[in-house]
Amino acid sequence: MGGWNRLSVWVSVCLLITGRGGLPQAEGVSMSVEDHQVVLDNGILQLTLSNPGGIITGIAYNGVDNLMETRNQEFDRGYWDLVWSDPLNPGLIFDRIEGTNFTVILQDDDQLEVSFTRSWLPSSLTGTGGVPLNIDRRFILLRGKSGFYTYAIFEHLKGWPDFDLAETRVVFKLSEDRFHYMAMADDRQRIMPMPQDRLPPRGYSLAFKEAVRLVNATNPALTGEVDCKYQYSCDNKDNKVHGWISFDPPTGFWQISPSDEFRTGGPMKQSLTSHVGPTTLAVFVSDHYAGKALVPRFRNGERWKKVFGPVFIYLNSSPEDENPLSLWKDAKLQMMSESRSWPYEFPASEDFPKARERGSVVGRLLVRDRYISEEDMPASSAYVGLALPGEVGSWQTESKGYQFWVKAEIDGTFSITSVRAGVYGLFAWVPGFIGDCKHPQNITVGEGSQIDLGDLVYEPPREGPTLWEIGTPDRSTAEFFVPEPNPAYVNRLYVDTPDRFRQYGLWERYAELYPTQDLVYVVGESNYTRDWFYAQVTRRLVNSSRAYRDTTWQIRFTLNSPILEGLYKLRIALAAAKRSRLQVWINDRSASSPHFSTGVVGDENSIARFAIHGLYRLFSVDVDGSLLVAGENVIFLNQAEAKNPFVGIMYDYIRLEEPATSVSGRSSGKSRRPSLTGIFFLSSLTYHVIRGYLTPLMYIHFTGTTCV
Ligand SMILES: *[C@@H]1O[C@H](CO)[C@@H](O)[C@H](O)[C@H]1NC(C)=O
Ligand SMILES: *[C@@H]1O[C@H](CO)[C@@H](O)[C@H](O)[C@H]1NC(C)=O
Ligand SMILES: *[C@@H]1O[C@H](CO)[C@@H](O)[C@H](O)[C@H]1NC(C)=O
Ligand SMILES: *[C@@H]1O[C@H](CO)[C@@H](O)[C@H](O)[C@H]1NC(C)=O
Ligand SMILES: *[C@@H]1O[C@H](CO)[C@@H](O)[C@H](O)[C@H]1NC(C)=O
Repeated sequence: MGGWNRLSVWVSVCLLITGRGGLPQAEGVSMSVEDHQVVLDNGILQLTLSNPGGIITGIAYNGVDNLMETRNQEFDRGYWDLVWSDPLNPGLIFDRIEGTNFTVILQDDDQLEVSFTRSWLPSSLTGTGGVPLNIDRRFILLRGKSGFYTYAIFEHLKGWPDFDLAETRVVFKLSEDRFHYMAMADDRQRIMPMPQDRLPPRGYSLAFKEAVRLVNATNPALTGEVDCKYQYSCDNKDNKVHGWISFDPPTGFWQISPSDEFRTGGPMKQSLTSHVGPTTLAVFVSDHYAGKALVPRFRNGERWKKVFGPVFIYLNSSPEDENPLSLWKDAKLQMMSESRSWPYEFPASEDFPKARERGSVVGRLLVRDRYISEEDMPASSAYVGLALPGEVGSWQTESKGYQFWVKAEIDGTFSITSVRAGVYGLFAWVPGFIGDCKHPQNITVGEGSQIDLGDLVYEPPREGPTLWEIGTPDRSTAEFFVPEPNPAYVNRLYVDTPDRFRQYGLWERYAELYPTQDLVYVVGESNYTRDWFYAQVTRRLVNSSRAYRDTTWQIRFTLNSPILEGLYKLRIALAAAKRSRLQVWINDRSASSPHFSTGVVGDENSIARFAIHGLYRLFSVDVDGSLLVAGENVIFLNQAEAKNPFVGIMYDYIRLEEPATSVSGRSSGKSRRPSLTGIFFLSSLTYHVIRGYLTPLMYIHFTGTTCV
C-alpha cells in the first residue's frame, strides 16, 4: 500500500470517529479462531492473541507484519502481568497472566470483544495455586478504529486466602529494529538507546542497576549519557498518552489512558511509562514513589473486584514525505478524543458501568485564611477528588477502589463527572495552601445521580500571622535549588528544562556544594530558589565509598523584642521522605533530645528515582515563646538517618507563625470560624507536638507509610 493510500485510510478513520456521516464505510471486523491463536481484524490492523493464553503475539499494521519484537518468544511480547505476595511466605512472585479459557463475548460487524479467563480454584490452597484471583482479560476491536482496547476484571471472592498485590500492568515489547523514538510529552521525547547499549561493555550500571552510563552506544550520539527508566516517570494526572515512533515506515504505537479512575494513589502518584526496550507500559498498581503503604492488602477473606482499563492502544501512520514526529501530535488529539468518549459505551462487561450508570458531584471550594484575606478565597486550581472513605489525606495511599479527580476552575467550582455509583469520601488540596481537606460526610453517588454540594470552605491549618516562610505549598520541591548534574551523568533530554530534576546523581552534588558545612538559610537574606537544596540528602564521607552521615540544616531568623507569650507554630510540609527521621531543635542544638521528631517516615524513594515529590506530610510543631529570643534564633533541621545516598527528605514548604493572640484588632482564626450550613472541612492531616511527643491521633494514620 502506498503512502497516500495509507493517509486516506487514516483520514476516513478520523472522520468516522468524529461521527460525521456520509463517508465510505470502513471494513467490518472479523475473527479467525485457530488452535493456538485468535486473530482479530478490522482491515486497519490485525491483532493476534495466543489461545487460550491471551498473550499479544502480533500486531500487523501499516504494511508491517508485526510491530512487536519477533525475536522475543511469543509469551514475551505483549502481556498483562502482576506481582503478588503471600503474607505467610514473604517474597514477591512475578506472574505473567495467561488464560485457560477463551470466550467470544461479542461479535458483530462493528465490534469484537474476546475474553481470556483464568480462575483460581480453592483446591489449590496448597500454595502452588498462585494468586487467589479470578482474572478476565478482554480485548476489543472496533470497526474503523486504528487500534484496540484492553481491560481486565480482577476478582477475589469472599473467604479466599490473603494476599498483597504489589503491581499490575500491561507490557508491550516493540520491534527493536523499528521503534527508536519515544515520546510522552511535548518536551519529553527523544531518540532512545538500544537495549544492548545498557549492557557491558557498552554500558555500565551506576549506583543501582536500572541507571546505566552509556560508554559506547550503538548510536554514537548517545555515548556519554545516562539512561534509566525512572527518568521517564509521570504523575497519574499527566500520564495520558505515551509511546514510540518508527521512522520506517512512519508508524506510531501509543498507549492511551482516557481516564485514571482505576489507578491507585490519586493524581500525584507517579508511575513508569515507556522506556528502553522499546517498552511501553500501562501501569495500574505499583508502589513506585509511594512505598508499601500503597500496596493493596487483602485480609480476612475480603471480597474485592476491580476493573482495570480499558486503555487504548492507538496506531497511526503518516506519508513518507511528512515529518514522522507529527505522529505525536496526532496521538495527543486521539487521546483527547478518547477522553471525551469516557466512559466508553462499548465494553460488554457489566462490571464496567456506562455513562447512564454513573453520577456526578459538583460544588465550589473556597479557602478561608483570615491572615491572608478577610474574604473567603476561591480555591483556584484545587485538586478535588472522590476516593474510598478514609482519613484526611488517605487517598494518597488508597489502592483498592476507584478515584475521580478534577482540577477546580479559577473560581473554585468543580465538576466531577462519570463517577461510578458508590460511597466515597470527598477530598481536596489547594495549591498555595498547606494541608489536606476532607468532607466530614460520605458522599453516596447513585446511578444517574447529580449531587450539588454547593459552597464548601476549607480552612487550612493556621494559628497566627506568618513570620516567615520558605517555598510555596504545592506538594513538590520544584521551586527550590535543583543543581546541574555532574557532566559525566547527563541525560541530554533534561538539560536546561524545568524537568532537570530528572538527571542522575543530583544527590551527590550536595556534598560538593556544601563541602564543609551544611546548608544555612538566613531569613531575609537567602533566596530559596538558590539557597535551599531541593532535598535534604545524606553526606558521603570523603575517602569512603560506603559511609554516609546525617546532615543538619539551619534556618536563622531575627525576632524583634518583645517575644510574645504563647505558642508559635512551625509548619513543616514534606513533599517526600525515604526512611528519614527529621529532628527539630530550637536554638539549643546541644539539648539532650530534639524539640520534635517525626520518627522514621517514608518509603517513596523519590531521590533515587529522580522525582520532586512522593507522599505529602504536614507536621505542625508548637514552639513556646519562651524558647525564642529577641535577636537571632536558629531552627536546626537534622535528618538523622544516613544509611545510604537515597535516604532523605524533600521539603514542600516551611512556615513560622506567631501566636494567635498577637494579631492586633483581629480575633484568632478559631473564634471567627462561622457556622456553615452543616458543611465544613476538617483541617489538615496534622501532627501536633506537645513537649516533644506526637499525639497519637494523627500518628496512627501514617504508621502505614513508615518503612519496616
Ligand atoms: C472453561 O470453559 C468451559 C466451557 O467452555 C467450562 O466448562 C470450564 O468450566 C471453563 N473453565 C474455567 C476454568 O473457567
Ligand atoms: C564500541 O563498539 C564498537 C562495536 O560496535 C567497537 O568496534 C569499538 O571498538 C567500541 N569502542 C570502544 C571505545 O570500546
Ligand atoms: C463513611 O463510610 C465508611 C466506610 O463505609 C465508614 O466506615 C464511615 O463510618 C463513614 N463515615 C461517615 C461519616 O459516615
Ligand atoms: C530569588 O532568585 C530568583 C532566581 O535567581 C529570582 O528570580 C527571584 O526574583 C529572587 N527572589 C527574591 C525575593 O529576591
Ligand atoms: C583522601 O584520600 C586521598 C588519597 O588517599 C588523600 O590524599 C586525601 O588527603 C584524603 N582526604 C581526606 C579528607 O582524608
